[in-house]
Amino acid sequence: MQAKSPRESLTISTDMVLPGETNPLNNLFGGELLARMDRAASISARRHCNQIVVTASVNHVAFTKAVPLGSVITVEAKVSRAFKTSMEVFIDVWVEDTASGEKMKANEGIYTFVAVDATGKPTVVPKIYPETVSEKERFAAALRRKQLSLLLAGKIKPHDASELKALFD
Ligand SMILES: CC(C)(COP(=O)(O)OP(=O)(O)OC[C@H]1O[C@@H](n2cnc3c(N)ncnc32)[C@H](O)[C@@H]1OP(=O)(O)O)[C@@H](O)C(=O)NCCC(=O)NCCS
Repeated sequence: MQAKSPRESLTISTDMVLPGETNPLNNLFGGELLARMDRAASISARRHCNQIVVTASVNHVAFTKAVPLGSVITVEAKVSRAFKTSMEVFIDVWVEDTASGEKMKANEGIYTFVAVDATGKPTVVPKIYPETVSEKERFAAALRRKQLSLLLAGKIKPHDASELKALFD
C-alpha cells in the first residue's frame, strides 16, 4: 500500500449560508456547520484510503466566530495523520468577505475516521508523509490527540496514554 501526502486528500467545499440553516440570531446553526465539516472530512479521508469511511469521533471543534446569514464559507479538510485503520482529519473553516475577497478563519475541527469493509470491519489504510511545516506540526501532535480521545471514550487506560503522560513529565 503506497504512502500518500496530506495534499492528496485536500478537499475544499465552498457554499453559502441560507435562511433555513441559521439560529435565532441569524448566524449559521452549529449542527449545520458540523454536518458540512463532516461531509468534507469524510471525502478527504476517503481520498486518502480509497475505501468506505465512517466517522469514529469528533475530537475537537472550536466555534470561534459566528457566521452570519448570507456568508460565503469555505470548508477545507485534509488528513493530518493515518494510523492503522483510522485517520485524523483537520478541518479549517473560512468566511469570505465578498466585497474584498479576503478570507478569515472562522472555525476549525478535528475528526477521526475509520476505513471499513462492506461488513463494517476496520481495514488498514495507507501511511502518510507530511510535507509542509503545518502538516508536520499536525502530524506530530495527532498521536497525543488520538490517545486523549481514546482515554475519554474509555477505550484505553491512563497508563497506556504515553504521549499524554509525557506532557507532564
Ligand atoms: C468506528 C468503528 C468502525 C470502530 O470500530 P471498533 O470495533 O471500535 O474498532 P477498533 O477498536 O479496532 O478501532 C478502529 C480504529 O478506530 C480508532 N478509534 C476508535 N474509537 C476512537 C475514538 N473515540 N477516538 C479516536 N480513535 C478511535 C481505534 O484506535 C482504531 O484505530 P487504529 O486501527 O488506527 O489504531 C465502529 O465503532 C463504528 O462502526 N461506529 C459507527 C460509525 C458511524 O456510524 N459513524 C457515523 C455517525 S452516526
